[in-house]
Amino acid sequence: MARKDLPKYTVPSLTPEDGAKVAAILQTRLDALNDLALTLKHIHWNVVGPHFIAVHEMIDPQVDAVRLMVDAIAERIATLGVAPVGTPGALVKNRTWDDYEIGRAGAIEHLGALDQVYVGVITDHRQAAEDTEELDTVTNDLLVGHLHELELFHWFVRAHLESSGGALSTGSAHTETGAARAAGGAARKASAAE
Ligand SMILES: [Fe+2]
Repeated sequence: MARKDLPKYTVPSLTPEDGAKVAAILQTRLDALNDLALTLKHIHWNVVGPHFIAVHEMIDPQVDAVRLMVDAIAERIATLGVAPVGTPGALVKNRTWDDYEIGRAGAIEHLGALDQVYVGVITDHRQAAEDTEELDTVTNDLLVGHLHELELFHWFVRAHLESSGGALSTGSAHTETGAARAAGGAARKASAAE
């Protein structure tokens, strides 16, 4: 960040350089969680099939919690003396991931894809927590607090994909569409065997 872009003030005991560095890390998390909140609502609206109501209703408390995280992150950026950017155009311009690709689909397909969404968000959030551990313990604490909830929500999703032996039906899939296909195929096979 160029000198002229440094915050005029930041939290006590941090240098303006470190304040700017922490704010830049937080801005990526602001974009990621804004995107997650929108994606969760998209799933809430597009889920169909026999497990509709369970998944439709499971998602809304996650949206509410993620929106609170977004607000806390944006306000921490402002507290650090930097202007948070919350506009959709900036989010799309700066993000490093693709839009969620699945439209109307069954609950298990969406949950398979959502498993991958959470893997991405949590991996990057953990990295951000690690990157702020030395720089700013307060920001680190904020991010670790989010991880408690995000990882719990991830388990809620995974519990739908888990066999009694503890394996996930998404198998080795690493993309949202691949995970959706694997989870949907496994669910169809299981119901045909009943
Ligand atoms: Fe709704």
